[in-house]
Amino acid sequence: MDEIKKEFPIFNKRDMVYLDNAATSQKPQEVIDSVYNYYLETNGNAGRGSHELSMINQAIMESTRKKVASFIGVSDEKNIVFTKGSTEGLNIIAFGYALDNLEEGDEIVLGISNHHANIVPWQEIARIKKLRIRYLYLDEFGNLDIKQLSYIFNKNTKIISISTVVNTTGVIQKFKDIIEISHRYNVKVVLDCAQSIMHFKHEFEKWDVDFAVFSGHKIFSAQGVGVLYGKKQLLEKTRPLIYGGDMVEYVTESSATYKDVPHKFEGGTQNVAAISTLTKSIEYMEKIGYDRIKKIEDKLTMYATFAINTLDFIETYYTENVEKVGIIAFNVKGVHSHDTAFILDNKGVAVRSGQHCTAPLLSYMGINSCCRMSLGIYNDEKDVDRLIEGLLEVKRIFLDK
Ligand code: ALA
Repeated sequence: MDEIKKEFPIFNKRDMVYLDNAATSQKPQEVIDSVYNYYLETNGNAGRGSHELSMINQAIMESTRKKVASFIGVSDEKNIVFTKGSTEGLNIIAFGYALDNLEEGDEIVLGISNHHANIVPWQEIARIKKLRIRYLYLDEFGNLDIKQLSYIFNKNTKIISISTVVNTTGVIQKFKDIIEISHRYNVKVVLDCAQSIMHFKHEFEKWDVDFAVFSGHKIFSAQGVGVLYGKKQLLEKTRPLIYGGDMVEYVTESSATYKDVPHKFEGGTQNVAAISTLTKSIEYMEKIGYDRIKKIEDKLTMYATFAINTLDFIETYYTENVEKVGIIAFNVKGVHSHDTAFILDNKGVAVRSGQHCTAPLLSYMGINSCCRMSLGIYNDEKDVDRLIEGLLEVKRIFLDK
């Protein structure tokens, strides 16, 4: 077994080819140990007491916040909010910031390739506040077509929200250009970095992004923890989504005052076990390094793209002439994606199938569903070869007479 794969115990337990890394990453031993050790040695409720365990938990949260801030190029860790994941972060931005700060008739621009988490909260506040949603569509290669911005943006446009990397196709968007152009029009930019944080260095302050979110579980952390970043003055204008214990300062019978950013957003008992794994997973990422991650992924993506594209019974989407991470969307022609995924699963190969929480994108592409293979740093050429064998089996079952 490859040296990196050995660090992920699940591969000793299961003989499988895991090609669903865009859904969630597997966990290295140190992350699994950290959850175990947390409950063994330090379980307590952060901020709820003056005893040692409570204080240790508070310290874990604040040191993790610092670690995250430096990982994503943010100088003040107070601009980092812990969430359950990207979806919660986007809901905080929509319901906490946009609902209060946008006026009836204002416009929000969304990428057509956004994940549902980056569409549905906006639709909901648009309905409540009578805002208009407009879409930025794709060019022929799967990039958001930046040229369209000059006629989409107008004096009513207040926010644009896009994915840095599209979860279904793996296309890396030209988000830095989008930030630059949007700011020229005074439009705030929200980045959904759920699919990019694994693949390249993020520098939110340098990029000058207004809000950004990502999930920990896609970069080896435990499930149930994510990060919301916002510029200080915007987070200050953002209302919390969750009200209750530990986000308040003073409470009377009739009202309450809230803590400052970021703690006003972190009401209720926090998932400190999961939060603490962010530190471990960031350390793990730093040990491997983004350069090595990119090298492994690029080589394997090229190998996989070539192998899949040589099969004439497969249709792939946006694999040519475009900057991508290790994600390939495909269909076996004439076979439903769930049938393909089922046969692949029988051969021990895990891919995602269906709409990938991107129904508007699939409608735009003119397909009902597709399969998606997404590579991780522990995958190798043998894994891709097993995918190809599985696809030949799908052909034998469904297509060969
Ligand atoms: N958003 C995750 C995916 O693309 C769950 O699979």
